[in-house]
Amino acid sequence: MFLFLIFIINILLLTSSSSDLRPGFYSNTCPNAEIIVRDVMKRALIREPRSVASIMRFQFHDCFVNGCDASMLLDDTPSMLGEKLALSNINSLRSFEVIDEVKEALEKACPGVVSCADIIIMASRDAVALTGGPNWEVRLGRLDSLTASQDNSSNIMPSPRSNATTLINLFQKYNLSVKDLVALSGSHSIGKGRCFSIMFRLYNQSGSGKPDPAIDPGFRNELNKLCPLDVDQNVTGNLDSTPVIFDNQYFKDLVAGRGFLNSDQTLFTFPQTREFVSFYSRDQTEFFKAFVEGMLKMGDLQSDRPGEVRRNCRVVNPRPAHFLSEHKMQNNDKSM
Ligand code: HEM
Repeated sequence: MFLFLIFIINILLLTSSSSDLRPGFYSNTCPNAEIIVRDVMKRALIREPRSVASIMRFQFHDCFVNGCDASMLLDDTPSMLGEKLALSNINSLRSFEVIDEVKEALEKACPGVVSCADIIIMASRDAVALTGGPNWEVRLGRLDSLTASQDNSSNIMPSPRSNATTLINLFQKYNLSVKDLVALSGSHSIGKGRCFSIMFRLYNQSGSGKPDPAIDPGFRNELNKLCPLDVDQNVTGNLDSTPVIFDNQYFKDLVAGRGFLNSDQTLFTFPQTREFVSFYSRDQTEFFKAFVEGMLKMGDLQSDRPGEVRRNCRVVNPRPAHFLSEHKMQNNDKSM
């Protein structure tokens, strides 16, 4: 009986692959799941418009690190350093409480059914749809990870200093094209960044002791006022000039030399990405189409590790003591 139980638990922990993902995954088990997520996101938007942008960023920071498995939502434990304090996330990722609110509402409606990884995917889509961007059908059925990796996150997630070549190479590793890279960077149509992320380009681009020459001089004056050398580097500025509307203004700003991050402006400076930036600055419909394609592709990134549906997105589910020792024994076997 004991072994049978272990067998069942292991089956439940089996990995899902992207081919298992499908629209309407919860239509029988939690038919209102998508409505519940959207309602919480609507409330979050009213409470604090920026919060939905902060949530949308989660999809990127989750999916690039061992697949879309909500690993970034795990808090640190005595035996595990989570991803929240990884280089690109510390003092930067925010609005985790909105995910908690979504999860609580879903657990009330259908306990133990909807994964945190799927919540990130639905909530990111809703952030875009609720701020004037496209709406699309998401593929669902992901599992939540049993662990997280601060090192992986720190090593993978790109710095705001990155140039287009670095970004192209990074995205390529995930089978995301140059077009996907430029379209997905259009996510910076909403939200804010810290002075911390742009100090070097305002005062010492590539160690030159000078500002990034790609910044329009008028915009540079504005940024210098926002982020003087002695500023508290947590002060924030808008990532584009319409930061609560998801539109193609981001690309128009890049064409005008008014991109906030170096990693944004470089997309217009470099020839490989420049044409896409110009194209999306002229055609919002094409931007929206490419953005949806990119989000779907990024959302299909899966890990091949075991998973579960977490009850609380911040912690893995408690395991019965006998399962933990059995699991440890199996892992020790593998390492022998
Ligand atoms: C292409 C490479 C990317 C780089 C280098 C990058 C970098 C950054 C940086 C440095 C910030 C500001 C962080 C801070 O100053 O605290 C930021 C904000 C943001 N990023 Fe990205 N990002 C990239 C791609 C993406 C993608 C693919 C998405 C989503 C699909 C995304 C969504 C966002 C959003 C919405 C914000 C604003 C968040 C808020 O207001 O809290 N980014 N990003």
